[in-house]
Amino acid sequence: MRIPSPVQLQKLKAAAKAAAGQAYAPYSKFRVGAAILTGTGKIHAGCNVENASYGLSNCAERTAIFSAVAAGGPKLQIKCVVVYTPTQTATAPCGACRQVINEFGPAARVISICDGPAHLDVSSDALLPGAFGPQDLT
Ligand code: THU
Repeated sequence: MRIPSPVQLQKLKAAAKAAAGQAYAPYSKFRVGAAILTGTGKIHAGCNVENASYGLSNCAERTAIFSAVAAGGPKLQIKCVVVYTPTQTATAPCGACRQVINEFGPAARVISICDGPAHLDVSSDALLPGAFGPQDLT
């Protein structure tokens, strides 16, 4: 069966939307939520957390991934990432997040949803072809 299952996808979408409601985005006002599905079937969510020192802001995707490692340990495998923005267009992960997704899910499915019909649905390796990753350090 294609990952995620329809039930898992609904849960991921709901978790990403709920997470966007927790965003700390006083500077951009751009609220983002993300949810990841792990190899053990767990879902972890995150939101963007900005900072007065703008460059220290953390994207929703990385918050979700770092929360997953904190909760479940370093063997994290990412099967799917869902990104939600309360916009009419879907938002693709930024370059930094693509690199972090690649670390734990080089073949992960990455789905971006929004409040309109637009959506993105790609694989991690399409977002970051020829990625530098763990294999380069062995
Ligand atoms: N942002 C995310 O959280 N995820 C993305 O995929 C794109 C951008 C955040 C970072 C910053 O807090 C705000 O959106 C504007 O760039």
